[in-house]
Amino acid sequence: MATGSEWWRSAVIYQIYPRSFSDALNDDGIGDLPGITERLPALKDLGVDAVWLSPFFSSPQKDAGYDVSDYCDVDPLFGTLSDFDVFEKRAHELGLRVIVDLVPNHTSDQHRWFQAALASPVGSVERGHYMFRDGSGPGGDLPPNNWESVFGGPAWTRVIEPDGTPGQWYLHLFDSSQPDLDWTDPWVRDQFRDILRFWLDRGVDGFRVDVAHGLMKAPGLPDYTPPADGGSMGGAGVPLDLIVDENDPVTAPYWAQDSVHEIYRDWHQVLEEYPGDRVLCAEAWVEPLRKLARWVRPDEMQQAFNFSYLETPWDASAIRQVVDTSIDAFASVGAPSTWVLSNHDVVRHATRLALTADNPQGHGLGPRSEGIPDRAFGLRRARAATGLMLALPGSAYVYQGEELGLPEVIELPDESRQDPTWFRTAGERYGRDGCRVPIPWEAASPSYGFSTGANSWLPQPADWAEYARDRQTDVPGSTLEMYKLALRLRRDHDLGFGTLEWLHDFSADVVAFRSNGITVIANAGATPVALPAGEVLLASEAFEGSELPADVTVWLRA
Ligand code: NOJ
Ligand code: CA
Repeated sequence: MATGSEWWRSAVIYQIYPRSFSDALNDDGIGDLPGITERLPALKDLGVDAVWLSPFFSSPQKDAGYDVSDYCDVDPLFGTLSDFDVFEKRAHELGLRVIVDLVPNHTSDQHRWFQAALASPVGSVERGHYMFRDGSGPGGDLPPNNWESVFGGPAWTRVIEPDGTPGQWYLHLFDSSQPDLDWTDPWVRDQFRDILRFWLDRGVDGFRVDVAHGLMKAPGLPDYTPPADGGSMGGAGVPLDLIVDENDPVTAPYWAQDSVHEIYRDWHQVLEEYPGDRVLCAEAWVEPLRKLARWVRPDEMQQAFNFSYLETPWDASAIRQVVDTSIDAFASVGAPSTWVLSNHDVVRHATRLALTADNPQGHGLGPRSEGIPDRAFGLRRARAATGLMLALPGSAYVYQGEELGLPEVIELPDESRQDPTWFRTAGERYGRDGCRVPIPWEAASPSYGFSTGANSWLPQPADWAEYARDRQTDVPGSTLEMYKLALRLRRDHDLGFGTLEWLHDFSADVVAFRSNGITVIANAGATPVALPAGEVLLASEAFEGSELPADVTVWLRA
């Protein structure tokens, strides 16, 4: 395929969070691969182009699978490798591409590589695969440096050596069960080439790369004190003050080191060994966008999540600005922009875009939180925001359940919470469980049809029947039907390959543009605005008359 027309440049990619999607195996309340396979026709019907599966690999599940103990096998919770093959074959038959999640920054502490490192002496080859260091202070009793874990607390844990004495420390940017690999070790690089080939041989269309800005650390592992005004969190639980900012002279020594790019150039070559257009998508919390664009230079990855867009409030001038900056930044390296509003790390946008109190990302929401919006109001905003996003040129990501209009779950009982953030901050931060609650399929079934029985690994709210897919299917004006219509129109008008042209004859609170013959108008202000003449193809809410109400987006053929 000619460069410039690859599928991923315009694709809408649906994120499946396997444990919360559909439970078909053994009614254990945890979604699995057979459950996903069974439900694929619903995604075909929705109209997406690809699915990305969060990790389903062997794992002790300390961070919901982002702690991998075998990269080339399926955790029995989710099924077997042959269940994966069946899933992938079915997805391909339906014309859906398949992206899997690669977690290269760290393994599980139960991975055989880490277990071998623990059992091997200081200075051994096995220890060299990870970031073991002697402690500082008398007796090495203090951590080697002052780095903090993204999930709270120190980023170092001390080990007990095989002879029973306190010994070296190992680095974990995330939970202590997720030791960081040492990517300066050529052996580590070899292992990951093999892992990529293992899944490419099985036919996957690409990889979402976890923590793609974190693999390389600054030589010498210097101390780092984040700016004092920090405290807000990026979606993966990454403090914003630790996000790389080109204008910040003190770049965190564990994010976005220039040396990381060599790894992705190498992986680009591995993907090139395979036919078809395969894709690497960076999960990199890097700002500004022109710096993020380095991850998607022509010989590196194909896509990077646009978290600057995700973090933009429902504000017309902020939206115009981030859209412009995104398109320019990615175009400068020949990459498409991507767009995303929700994922498994952030407060769902049906709640987030209408919060009235400050809520740093990664902190999550719970019963003690303030500023929780009325559900209907939050959903109205979310539908308007989605209506805008799905008209933008480039590729868009949709997180399971947003097509049902699901809000963040606020009232999770403390004892059900599972995010390591909750434990590492002693409940001070709720973490991300509220966006991970199993999704509703059939209103009248136990667990809303999520499981074959009534189990659900996080409790589902008692009042979720109205969001169930069967309650929304073929119901005009439902959130599900709005998504389907938007995806169909996006495809019919080739908006993914559209050219955005701003329309300036509206008030400052309105975002308005034309792309491939479609006029998109989003009213992010508080008062109705007059609409130009034209046939309404899509409205994020039904309305009467010729004025566009607040928090509504329309697509017009004008
Ligand atoms: C980002 C993932 O999206 C998040 O869920 C995970 O906790 C961290 N990376 C660590 O792997
Ligand atoms: Ca199951």
